[in-house]
Amino acid sequence: MKAIVVTDQAAGTAGMKLVERPQPQAAINDVVVQIHASGFVPTELAWPSTWTDRRDRDRTPSIPGHELAGVITALGYGTTGLSVGQRVFGLADWHRDGTLAEYVAMEARNLAPLPGDVDFTVGASLPISGLTAWQGLFQHGRLQAGQSVLAHGAAGAVGSMVTQLARASGAYVIGTGRAADRQKVLDFGAKEFVDLEKDALEDIGGVDLVFDVIGGDIQKRSAGLIRAGGTLVTIVGPAEARPADGLAIDFVVESDRAQLSEIVQRVRDGRLRTNIGSISALDDAVATFNATERRAGKTVIRVRP
Ligand SMILES: NC(=O)c1ccc[n+]([C@@H]2O[C@H](COP(=O)([O-])OP(=O)(O)OC[C@H]3O[C@@H](n4cnc5c(N)ncnc54)[C@H](OP(=O)(O)O)[C@@H]3O)[C@@H](O)[C@H]2O)c1
Repeated sequence: MKAIVVTDQAAGTAGMKLVERPQPQAAINDVVVQIHASGFVPTELAWPSTWTDRRDRDRTPSIPGHELAGVITALGYGTTGLSVGQRVFGLADWHRDGTLAEYVAMEARNLAPLPGDVDFTVGASLPISGLTAWQGLFQHGRLQAGQSVLAHGAAGAVGSMVTQLARASGAYVIGTGRAADRQKVLDFGAKEFVDLEKDALEDIGGVDLVFDVIGGDIQKRSAGLIRAGGTLVTIVGPAEARPADGLAIDFVVESDRAQLSEIVQRVRDGRLRTNIGSISALDDAVATFNATERRAGKTVIRVRP
């Protein structure tokens, strides 16, 4: 099969290569999926799991990419709940070969059925951004209707999902980003926009929940805006700041079939919009990941035309 591999962490996306690899085999409770579309988060080349297995042993050349939509072609021993020929989408294991390839072997429990009227490119754009937003807002942030949310990077992949899901649950959303993102963020449902390069973040007053996708100084200043009993949720590593009278939570997204199904249902009935910035073929993916212009939204790779 065709696959994109990485061997050298220092080389970043410039070190990606399109090569031929053997097709993966399904282990216990696995499925093999013929991938139709794949999602890639550029920062994953900085994650240790891209380079090593769970015992910290080198696993290069490794195939990056963890989001996919495709069709099941084989079941491993003992696999139940999904069947050959079924359309699926989901989140592939961090420590195994990923989805920038024509096939992936992965645990069946990390997939959900993809309804026939949802395009594979849309399915591949949802797992990481949708699940991260869902889990950060509702599981870790315990968001309630009527609360206020500061959604950083609200024109980005995760931030646009945070903005929409928070708004739909009855929260007041303040989105942030760069000047050019203002209209996009308001269109996703934010009531206010803060240009992080020009506006004073402190002018927004207090909020109940900060959803941080940026870290550093912006995270620290945001923690100071959290009301008593509120929460800082961050997804960019261990929390560096803590609200004076509240919780700080960092987490890594996990797959969840019920949540994936809820997210895709909302996309089908128009309550949630995906945020695809560009779609490229697998043959052009390395060039796309190395493009220098600013990309807004997710880059999706169409693996099968
Ligand atoms: N822990 C987890 O489970 C988890 C899950 C998903 C993602 N993540 C991490 O979360 C981060 C965001 O992921 P994503 O896929 O949403 O990325 P993304 O699509 O690039 O979105 C980030 C957004 O924030 C904006 N932004 C970043 N720094 C900014 C600054 N200083 N001022 C103004 N705007 C700024 C970006 O604008 P520009 O493009 O112009 O910089 C972009 O619009 C990444 O680091 C990713 O690795 C973690």
